[in-house]
Amino acid sequence: MKKQLIETAVKAREMAYAPYSHYKVGAALLAKSGKIYTGCNVENASFTPTNCAERTAFFKAISEGDREFEMIAIVAGKDGEELSKNCTPCGVCRQVMTEFCHKDFKIILGTPDDFKVLTLEEIMPHSFTATEL
Ligand code: THU
Repeated sequence: MKKQLIETAVKAREMAYAPYSHYKVGAALLAKSGKIYTGCNVENASFTPTNCAERTAFFKAISEGDREFEMIAIVAGKDGEELSKNCTPCGVCRQVMTEFCHKDFKIILGTPDDFKVLTLEEIMPHSFTATEL
């Protein structure tokens, strides 16, 4: 399942719109319903509106009624180069994950043949959540 999810993320990365950074990211998010939502980064000339691949996938899922998630696979790298083994989600995406995922939510990073699995708790300790409000 993990390898299949990474391969789906690799395909999603092909759709990345990254004319400024040339850094292309793909994501594949597995919902508890069994559906997989893909995402890519979508950049903007004004930079700030840029949306990461992870949030694209989450917002697609939530807008289609899925709110519970098992894991996400993320692949990234400079256009025309090999996939990176070191790309982890940015802080904004970690916060979005925190809103919708339990601490054992899995984040799969790397390539189809060489990947690691981290939990949300590992990459987002001491997070701010709705329980504070
Ligand atoms: N990016 C992602 O899509 N996900 C990440 O986890 C890190 C960064 C995108 C945003 C921007 O389009 C490009 O990568 C360079 O920061």
